[in-house]
Amino acid sequence: RFAYVNGRYVRHADATVHIEDRGLMFGDAVYEVCQVAQGFLVDMTRHLDRLDRSLSEIRIRPPMPRAALVGIMREVLRRNRVVNGLVYVQVSRGVARRDHVFPTPDVRASLIVTAKSLNPATIAAKHAAGVSAFTAPDNRWGRVDIKTVGLLPNVLARQQAKEAGGYEAIFVDADGNVTEGAATNLWIVDKAGTLVTRPADPGILRGITRTTLLDVAATLGLPVAERRFSVAEMLEAREVFITGATTICLPIVSVDGRTIANGHPGIIAQKIRDAFFDVAE
Ligand code: PDD
Repeated sequence: RFAYVNGRYVRHADATVHIEDRGLMFGDAVYEVCQVAQGFLVDMTRHLDRLDRSLSEIRIRPPMPRAALVGIMREVLRRNRVVNGLVYVQVSRGVARRDHVFPTPDVRASLIVTAKSLNPATIAAKHAAGVSAFTAPDNRWGRVDIKTVGLLPNVLARQQAKEAGGYEAIFVDADGNVTEGAATNLWIVDKAGTLVTRPADPGILRGITRTTLLDVAATLGLPVAERRFSVAEMLEAREVFITGATTICLPIVSVDGRTIANGHPGIIAQKIRDAFFDVAE
């Protein structure tokens, strides 16, 4: 396997960053994860637009023009023979002696690109059976709309969910409303049959899969409401599912050990998944 690190393609096992890279020291870095399906980068433009936004929000200048970055992403995929999988892009503020304030003079941003294959059969099995989830208090900072690598709350919540026998953690805010999953956005089909997801306020990451799914819903003529919903409403929903670059649209069949609807993946999630790659770009 190969990775791209700061200007070079290196063997994955030999790919390293400096010990004073600010991504390592402070989590002073942003990232993107983009799905690769049949060799295509799914919704690449939206992912790169969001990367630009994340960089601008934390005041890192893009390390290179977009076309050059895309070239590197494709080359990493090619060198790893990834046809179905993920490509990961991370940009940190760069290497400097440890000091909270930005380095002066400015240093060069660090860029890492990696890729891995995913087995479509493994994901299909998850889609067919659905997964379980567990709620956790949303104890993250107030700017989770920025896709930073500072993911410790997400890591701990997902680990706790795993140890309870689940796949995803569902963050719940102080008002008892669902924000999102630890690495996904959360959706329900409410009692009226409307697709509901939280508005893209600073309390969630505006997922690319979420945005495309809104397009899919419009194409299919499904009613949608971007509004907040409580844990209680989720437990009573017709369907619950999560969206993200890794699994696209994955049914949740139980939350905190309580069965959702009849305990089987719902028809709406299935319809959306079937239409997804026709709408995604
Ligand atoms: N996670 N919310 C959070 C907190 C996320 O980390 C992610 C993505 C999403 C879904 O966004 P998108 O549809 O753009 O993938 C929502 C990536 C996949 C990760 O950290 O691995």
